[in-house]
Amino acid sequence: PFVPLRRIPPSELATHGARKNETKTYWTVLEGKVYDMTPYMPYHPGGEKELLRVAGKDGTKLFNLTHSWVNWDNMLRGCEVGILVSENEMLK
Ligand code: HEM
Repeated sequence: PFVPLRRIPPSELATHGARKNETKTYWTVLEGKVYDMTPYMPYHPGGEKELLRVAGKDGTKLFNLTHSWVNWDNMLRGCEVGILVSENEMLK
């Protein structure tokens, strides 16, 4: 069956950031897709602290600066929670 992607605005993304986070899950955005990095964090070769730098925000730039060769699409399959949309789009 067709399952539409969940739409996530920046305000919701921000509740999964490094600080003041009551959800205890850490999300980031890579090329418009929102991922829950939490299950992957203990396995990141660069450590959990580096991942926290992009928690609650768009991590695309920093990710590509660090290791643009890493296939995040494959690695984070199953961790996808939805797609990022603007606050305005949420009202539509
Ligand atoms: C290394 C995955 C985000 C910093 C790596 C490696 C993988 C990986 C597979 C090993 C690469 C290799 O040896 O060729 C991921 C995934 C990310 C992510 C899936 C997104 C969820 C980030 C971010 C930073 C970062 C945002 C921030 C700067 C590093 C560093 C290393 C590394 C510094 C090198 C560790 C070392 O070799 O000592 N990451 N990464 N990563 N990552 Fe990430």
